[in-house]
Amino acid sequence: MSERFAFAPDLLAGKTALVTGGGTGLGREIALVLAAAGADVAVAARRRDLLESAADEIRAATGRRAVAATVNIRDRESVEALAAELGERIGPIDVLVNNAGGQFPVRARELKPKGWHAVVDTNLNGTWNVTQVFGDRMLAGAGGSIVSIIAVVGRGFPGLAHSAAARAGVLELSRSLAYEWGPRVRVNCVAPGPVVTQGFQKAYEQEILKGIRDIPISRVGTVREVANAVAFLASPAASWITGEVLYVAGGQQIQGPNQALFPAAFPERGE
Ligand SMILES: NC(=O)c1ccc[n+]([C@@H]2O[C@H](COP(=O)([O-])OP(=O)(O)OC[C@H]3O[C@@H](n4cnc5c(N)ncnc54)[C@H](OP(=O)(O)O)[C@@H]3O)[C@@H](O)[C@H]2O)c1
Repeated sequence: MSERFAFAPDLLAGKTALVTGGGTGLGREIALVLAAAGADVAVAARRRDLLESAADEIRAATGRRAVAATVNIRDRESVEALAAELGERIGPIDVLVNNAGGQFPVRARELKPKGWHAVVDTNLNGTWNVTQVFGDRMLAGAGGSIVSIIAVVGRGFPGLAHSAAARAGVLELSRSLAYEWGPRVRVNCVAPGPVVTQGFQKAYEQEILKGIRDIPISRVGTVREVANAVAFLASPAASWITGEVLYVAGGQQIQGPNQALFPAAFPERGE
């Protein structure tokens, strides 16, 4: 909280942002950073108490308007109701951050249909519900910018096949929409590497972080590092960027034994 904000306090002046999953972890920090950059914000998820405390914290820290509203992104009617509610309470949404999501580690052979459907329903179908409902309003209004939080995609995600499939789906969806909805609505993704939020700790054993030394920047990320990337892509500073994915992952996306031709030539990595 005491860390200085990276962006000018008027970067997003006059804009209103919606952050799904904004009551916890990455989403909460994204909403805070957007507000610190001058946006009014709405945070939406299922647990009202967490959303209210996030909105209180954002108001206190930034002086911006911050409202909390409940939604289940898997349920299209709930998303429509959210759009109507926010229209009344805070006005048109200029910036949508699709951050709500979740998964659990499982070997693909042991994955039950219910687990598969739950993860794809939230991470892909839920993201689509929110994107279409709010994207439609942006297109009919003043335009806008959409940033979806995905995960490091492109090399598979063994142990998280359901989420990998859903997140890659969101990336291709975003690229498709970037064309269909450009130039009025920009559509981009942020792909975080591991960030130790409460959601992360609930889903994974500490052991999963063992491989962190192989990431080019050998540490976990911070919520602020992810939030800064979202704020950049959402803002006019990224006005000619659409259909793009920004990895905020310490280089995890290029990690692997085929990356360095001569690993011994890099003793500073402790190989
Ligand atoms: N932390 C990481 O290392 C990491 C890395 C890559 C990607 N991500 C992704 O980044 C996002 C945020 O992660 P996090 O670490 O901050 O975890 P988190 O605290 O568990 O955040 C997930 C948020 O999504 C909301 N949510 C889940 N299902 C929902 C639904 N059906 N409708 C509405 N809201 C829903 C949750 O709120 P309610 O339960 O109250 O609805 C919660 O606020 C997630 O999509 C996560 O998968 C995280």
